[in-house]
Amino acid sequence: MFPADLAADARILWRLTRGQPRQGDQATRLQAFYAPQAERYDAFRERLLHGRSELIERLEIGAGMRVVELGCGTGSSLQRMGPGALRCASIQLVDLCPALLNVARQRAAAYRNVEVIEADATRWQPGAAVDRVFLSYALTMIPDWRGVIDNAVAMLKPGGRLGVVDFHLPTVGSRLGNGFWRHWCGHDGVCLSAEHLPALSRSLTDTWMDQRRAPVPYLPGVLAPYYLFVGRRRDPAQNVSITR
Ligand SMILES: C[S@@+](CC[C@H](N)C(=O)[O-])C[C@H]1O[C@@H](n2cnc3c(N)ncnc32)[C@H](O)[C@@H]1O
Repeated sequence: MFPADLAADARILWRLTRGQPRQGDQATRLQAFYAPQAERYDAFRERLLHGRSELIERLEIGAGMRVVELGCGTGSSLQRMGPGALRCASIQLVDLCPALLNVARQRAAAYRNVEVIEADATRWQPGAAVDRVFLSYALTMIPDWRGVIDNAVAMLKPGGRLGVVDFHLPTVGSRLGNGFWRHWCGHDGVCLSAEHLPALSRSLTDTWMDQRRAPVPYLPGVLAPYYLFVGRRRDPAQNVSITR
């Protein structure tokens, strides 16, 4: 790694060490946390946030589909979608943090079918039902995570798919290990939970999930627990929200 990259990583690590500010509303806290990291966000998270490309593959996003990403950050999912992104009817990227959305807007400029939206993922709704919704390491950063799941399911067409990849507390993890992760992530506003996967499973049908562990930059030998989840919206006649 070049000295300039190491210096950029050091700035990100310094911000992570300081944690997410506690004052202000959520948008203010996210902006204060991410604005100093925005330029180098993608390079560092590429080595921290695993499973994002696989989630997109498992969503089987096809030509003509309407797609929403909630908590899109810098919109790097567009790169992971590859040329398939150009064939979607629409891709709506939603986030609450202006600094990261600025990077997403620069990316989206290369696409005619991509819209970048500053909004709260717990409340924003598209104009018409969509085929695919996904959240990539965003559910753990949204205090009302149950509200986001309900909101995501509500924007899907019947049979449409919701995909999530995120850190969590595995039920098979040791109490010491889980305590370390909860503290380490909580400092940065990432609230780990063992409840996300069960809630997702109850909210959707035809579900697939996998729980894994992956390396963390600069912490040799340490493996962070994360999961991938994909499920389908039930027919609305039978779809009762039971995440709460
Ligand atoms: C860890 S980042 C992940 C970003 C991106 N999905 C990725 O994989 O790189 C979490 C994102 O969730 C966004 N976020 C947190 N709370 C939100 C909310 N209530 N509504 C929309 N976005 C939110 C943050 O601003 C941040 O961009």
